[in-house]
Amino acid sequence: MQVTDELMNEHQLILKYIDLMGKYIEVSKTNRGENILLEKAQDFISFFQEFTDTYHHAKEEDALFKYLQAPDVLSDCNLLSVMLSDHDKGRMHVRGMNSGLVKNNLETLCKNAYAYSQHLKQHIFKEDNVLFPMAENEISDEDKITLKNEYKQIEEKLDKRAIWNKYEEKYSELENCLNNKILVTE
Ligand SMILES: [Fe+2]
Repeated sequence: MQVTDELMNEHQLILKYIDLMGKYIEVSKTNRGENILLEKAQDFISFFQEFTDTYHHAKEEDALFKYLQAPDVLSDCNLLSVMLSDHDKGRMHVRGMNSGLVKNNLETLCKNAYAYSQHLKQHIFKEDNVLFPMAENEISDEDKITLKNEYKQIEEKLDKRAIWNKYEEKYSELENCLNNKILVTE
């Protein structure tokens, strides 16, 4: 029984947003007058706050990580604190993006968006390739059943279907907007 598949699936949407944001940053750099990233920053920030932090991190921090906290579960006992501090560092970058947006400061926005992208890609790589395989090996089948129920409660409370629909639609909108902008400026 697997308990990290859905989290890895959520990582894929997060990585899609990160890639798209990278393209926005590039277009903003070549076309500063248009400030396309500044215009669309709120959509990216909302995704990272609502989907990545409130929804995805809740499933990790309030459910999965609890099962990895016992001293004999993980062979690397420092790993969980690294993951938690990664999450905090990510929140700091999103606050930095928001501060750039509030001040209409494209440079601050881009700097934080780029730093956040690099940070999050590395963090997701660590979870997908180190933490999650360990979790699959170390959590007992009995605990996996309870953990799945805990995920379900979080998913129901935060309305899984609605949040996925909202941010998959938003992704397509952002992608179309970026492609149109590239076509117009070419
Ligand atoms: Fe994650």
